[in-house]
Amino acid sequence: MFNLKVLITFFCLISIVSSISPRGTLSQNASLQDISPQDISFIYEEPIDGLKLYSIFPTNDYLMIWMAFEDKNPECMLPYFHLRLKNKRTGQINNYIDLNYTLPAEAVCPINIDLLPLADNYILLYYTKTTNGIKEKHGLIINYSGEIMSEIYLGNADGYVASSNEGFINIEKPDEKGISAWHWYSFPNIVTGEVVEHSSGEFHAPNLLSYTLVDSLNFNLLDGGFGFLYILKYDEMKGSPVTKDPNLQYWRIYLSFLKGKTDLPTKPSLLYQTTQKVNNITLKSCTSTYNAEGYICVMTLNNTIMNNNNSETEINYYQLGFLSTGALVRLEIIPTLTNITDIDLRTLYYGGFIAIYQNATAIDFYLLDDNGNYMQSQGSFGPGFFYYNTFRVNNTIFGVKEQAKNKLEFLFKPMPKLKNNRSSEFSPVIESAKPSINEVIDPLIKEIMIKYTIPVKFSTANVSIFQKNDDKYKPDLLRQTLSGDSKLCIIGSDNHTVYIPIFESTFNQPNSTYYVLVENNFVISQERDEPLVGIRKNIWTLSTKPLKMAQHSDSVTGLLRLNEEGSSKFLQMNHSIFFKNMIQEFAKVIPVTEQRLSTSGKWQYDPTFPKKVLLSFNIIEAKDDIIESSSHIIFNDLSTLINKKGFTALSFNEYTSLIDESAPFIMTRDYIKEFYPLIIIFVVGLAVIIVLYVLARKKNPNARNSVILETCYIMQDIAVDLSFILLKVKNTPHLFIPTIIFFILPIVINFLLAINIFVSEMAMNPSFNKWVKESPTLSSMCTLFSAIDIQILNTLSSDLFGLKIFSAPLTQRSKKIMLWGVFISIFVEDIPQIIIQGLYYNSVITYDLIPSLVLASGGLVIANKLVLRSYHTLLRWNHRRDKIREYNRNRRLSAASIRSIRSNVEN
Ligand SMILES: *[C@@H]1O[C@H](CO)[C@@H](O)[C@H](O)[C@H]1NC(C)=O
Ligand SMILES: *[C@@H]1O[C@H](CO)[C@@H](O)[C@H](O)[C@H]1NC(C)=O
Ligand SMILES: *[C@@H]1O[C@H](CO)[C@@H](O)[C@H](O)[C@H]1NC(C)=O
Ligand SMILES: *[C@@H]1O[C@H](CO)[C@@H](O)[C@H](O)[C@H]1NC(C)=O
Ligand SMILES: *[C@@H]1O[C@H](CO)[C@@H](O)[C@H](O)[C@H]1NC(C)=O
Ligand SMILES: *[C@@H]1O[C@H](CO)[C@@H](O)[C@H](O)[C@H]1NC(C)=O
Ligand SMILES: *[C@@H]1O[C@H](CO)[C@@H](O)[C@H](O)[C@H]1NC(C)=O
Ligand SMILES: *[C@@H]1O[C@H](CO)[C@@H](O)[C@H](O)[C@H]1NC(C)=O
Repeated sequence: MFNLKVLITFFCLISIVSSISPRGTLSQNASLQDISPQDISFIYEEPIDGLKLYSIFPTNDYLMIWMAFEDKNPECMLPYFHLRLKNKRTGQINNYIDLNYTLPAEAVCPINIDLLPLADNYILLYYTKTTNGIKEKHGLIINYSGEIMSEIYLGNADGYVASSNEGFINIEKPDEKGISAWHWYSFPNIVTGEVVEHSSGEFHAPNLLSYTLVDSLNFNLLDGGFGFLYILKYDEMKGSPVTKDPNLQYWRIYLSFLKGKTDLPTKPSLLYQTTQKVNNITLKSCTSTYNAEGYICVMTLNNTIMNNNNSETEINYYQLGFLSTGALVRLEIIPTLTNITDIDLRTLYYGGFIAIYQNATAIDFYLLDDNGNYMQSQGSFGPGFFYYNTFRVNNTIFGVKEQAKNKLEFLFKPMPKLKNNRSSEFSPVIESAKPSINEVIDPLIKEIMIKYTIPVKFSTANVSIFQKNDDKYKPDLLRQTLSGDSKLCIIGSDNHTVYIPIFESTFNQPNSTYYVLVENNFVISQERDEPLVGIRKNIWTLSTKPLKMAQHSDSVTGLLRLNEEGSSKFLQMNHSIFFKNMIQEFAKVIPVTEQRLSTSGKWQYDPTFPKKVLLSFNIIEAKDDIIESSSHIIFNDLSTLINKKGFTALSFNEYTSLIDESAPFIMTRDYIKEFYPLIIIFVVGLAVIIVLYVLARKKNPNARNSVILETCYIMQDIAVDLSFILLKVKNTPHLFIPTIIFFILPIVINFLLAINIFVSEMAMNPSFNKWVKESPTLSSMCTLFSAIDIQILNTLSSDLFGLKIFSAPLTQRSKKIMLWGVFISIFVEDIPQIIIQGLYYNSVITYDLIPSLVLASGGLVIANKLVLRSYHTLLRWNHRRDKIREYNRNRRLSAASIRSIRSNVEN
C-alpha cells in the first residue's frame, strides 16, 4: 500500500515536472552537473503582470511565494501584498492572496515589512507604521483565503518576531540600558483567528559597565521557548585602554533562555569570550542539533591581519555549540574552501553544514560534516538563478530562476543525509516507528512504538493522537494525549524504543485518518538531558478501514459519577441544562451524533460517596448498522474515555471534565420500564388462557387439555413470528429475506393443503358440507386460519368448547393430509426458523431483557413446537401402521380413537 503511494507520488511528480517543463528544455539551459536526478523542478506562472518575486518561505505544508510590484527605487516596493501558497502535497498553487489593503509608506519604502507563517491557516504580516511621529511595529493576521482577521500592535519598530510551537513572540530591540521587552502571543484560534497575549516581560542584557551591546539575536528552543544571545564589546571609552591588560576579554557573548510556560528569562550566562581584538563578531543560523546535543550557532569573526605591512581582512567561521543549561560544548573552526570571503554557512537538519556562495555567474554550494570537514559534494545552480533558500526540515536547498516575464523556474536540490544513515523520514533522531506511515491499522491496536537513534529518557511534553477533520481549516479531534512523565508509556530495555499505549476509544471511527503528533521534548537524551525533536502533525498518518456490518445492539443506559466540584455545580444549576451541555460535549468527544445520546434526567446521590452525584445517560440504538456504530460500541468507547479521562479530550471540556474518572461508567437497568410490558403480556396471556380453558371445560368437559394447549401454541407461534418480522429482523438485514421466505412458504403450503381438504370434504363428506352451509363465514375464516397452521383443522374437528364451529366432521383422507402438512411444516417452518433465530442471536448484542426474553421464548416455542410436532407425527405414523395391521379390513378410524391413543401417550 505504502509502496504504491510512493510510486503514485513519484509518477505525479514526474508528470508535474514533465508537463510544465519538458526535460529537454531543462538540460539545454543548465549544464549536466547542475541537475541531478533527484532534483525537482517546476515552473510557477504569476497571473498578475508586473509582479516580481520578493521572497519565499517554505513551511511544512506550503511553499509561500511572496510577489511584489517593483518601485522605481530598488529599495522599495509598491504598498500591496501578494502571496501564493503552493501546497507541497498536491503540488498546486491553492491560494492566491491579493490583500485589499494599502500598506503604509514607511513599510514599503525602504522595505520594512516581513511575514511569519503561523500555525494552521494563518500568517502574520508585520511592518513599520508611524503613529504620532513614533515608528511602531504592527501586524496583520491573515488567513489563507486572504481575509484580514485582526490587526495587532507589536511594539517598537526594531526587533524580532519569531514563532515557536507555542505561539509567536515579539522581542523589541534592546534600549540603551540593554532592556528589551517581549510579548508572547498564542497562535490564532483556528476558527476565529483571534490572538491573545499569554505572557510578557523583559530581557535584561548583562549589566557590565565597561561593555557596550553590539548586537543581540534570538533563536528557537526545541521545547517551545526562545533563546536570546547578546554580543558585547569592551568599550575603551568607558573602561581602561585594552593595551594595559593583555588578559582583558575584548568580546563577550552572553546567553539567556525564555523557556516555554515561564514568565522570567534566565539570568544571562557567559558563553564565549575572547581577548582577540577582532573587528566584529556575528552570530547566525542558531539551530538545535540533529542528535540532541543542544544548539549550534555559526559564529563569524571578522579580523584584520597585518601581513608585511599589508592589512587584510580575514573572516573565520566557528561553530559554537551549547546545551540548554548554557554550557559551552563545542567551539571549532569551520575551514572554508577557498579565499571566498562571503559565504553563507548554515546548519543542516540531518547534521553537517552547507556553505553557499555566489561566484560571478552562479550560486554554488558545498557540504561540510559535523566537524567542518569538507565533503566531496559540491553543487551549483546553473546560470540565471538569482534567489536561493534552504528548506531546513526537508534537507533541501532550492533556487529560483527568472524565465520569461511571468514565469519563475524553481529547482529543489535534496541534500544527502550526512553521517546519519539511521535517521528516518520522521526526524533525524528517530530510526523507525510502528505502525508505518499511512498504514491501515487495526482499530484495537494496543500500542505504537518509536525507536530513537540514541538512548532516551521521558520528559514532560506529550504524544497525542488526533483524528483529522475533513475540513482542514477546522480543528482536528483529540483522541488521546500522554505526557512523557505520565507513567503510561514505557521505554524498552534497549533504552532506544518507546512504547505508547493506545486506548480502545482512540481509533474508534471507521474509514478515518489519524495522525500521531510527538511533541519536541517528549523524550530527552540519556546522555545530556537535551530534548529531542518530535514528529510534526500530519506526518505520521494512520487510517482505519471502512466499517463492516456491525452487530446491532439495543439502547443502553449508563450511570456515571461526577467529582465533588462537578456534583456541587450540578446541584446549583438547572439540571436539564447541565445534562444538555454534557451530551453536547460527549457527542463531540466520542464522536457521535447528538441524536444517539439522551438522558432520562435521572440522578441520585452515590450511596458510597454522599457528596457525589450519579447521572444517567442513554445511548440510543443505531438506526442503520452500516453507517452507525452500535450502542454497545459507543458505550464501551465512552467508558474507556471516562476511565482515561485525564488523557482524553473529556478533560478539556467544561462539563465532561467534571466526571469522576475513579468511578466506572456502569450499565444500568431500568427494571420498572423493562418489566412493565412484560408483566402486562404475561398477565393478559394468562388471563386469555384461563378464560379459554374455563370456557372449553364448561362447554365440553370431555375436551382434551392437549388440544387446548396446542391451540395456544399455534396462536403464540404466529405472534412470535410476526413480532420477530416486525420488530427485530430490521436489526439484521441479512436475515430479512430468509425470514420472509420461511414465513410465507409454510403459509402458502398450509393454505393449499387446507383448500384441498375443504374441496374434497365438500365433495365427499355430506356432514361437512352441511356444517359449512350452516356457518359459511366461520368456515371460510377457518380455512384462512388454517393457512397459519393446518393443525387448526384438528381443532375444528375436536369438538372444542362444544361449539358448532369446532365440530366439523373430517374424513380420514383429510386427516392424512393434515398429518403430511404438519410433517412438511417441520422442514419448511420450524427447523429454518430455529436456525434463523440462532443466527439472529449470534449477530446481535443485546442488553435489554425484553428482547432476550422474546428471543428466548421465541426459540423455546419453536423448539417445543418442533418436538411436539415430530412427536405427534411419529405417533400418528406408528398409530396408523398399527391400525392398519390390526384393522386391516376396516380402514376407517374414528377421530376419537386417535385422540384417545394420543392422549394416553401424552399423559
Ligand atoms: C477593498 O476595500 C475597500 C474598503 O476597505 C472596499 O471599498 C473595496 O471595495 C475593496 N475592494 C475589493 C476588490 O474588494
Ligand atoms: C558587527 O556585526 C553586527 C551584526 O552582528 C552588525 O550589526 C554591525 O553593524 C557590525 N559592526 C561593524 C562595525 O561592522
Ligand atoms: C569586516 O570588517 C571590516 C571592518 O569593519 C569591514 O569593512 C568588512 O566589510 C567586514 N567584512 C565582512 C565580510 O563583514
Ligand atoms: C582568490 O581567488 C581569485 C579568483 O577568485 C584568485 O585569482 C586568487 O588567486 C585567489 N587567491 C588565493 C590566495 O587563493
Ligand atoms: C562559478 O561556478 C560555476 C559552477 O560551479 C563554475 O562553472 C564557474 O566556473 C564558476 N565561476 C567562477 C568565476 O569561479
Ligand atoms: C522533501 O523533499 C522531497 C524531495 O527531495 C519531496 O519528495 C518531499 O515531498 C519533500 N517533503 C516535503 C514535506 O515537502
Ligand atoms: C538503559 O538505561 C539504564 C539507566 O540509565 C541503564 O542502567 C541500562 O544499562 C541501560 N541499558 C542499555 C541496554 O544501555
Ligand atoms: C471512506 O471515506 C472516503 C473519503 O473520506 C469516501 O470517499 C468513501 O466513500 C468512504 N468509504 C466508505 C466505505 O465509507
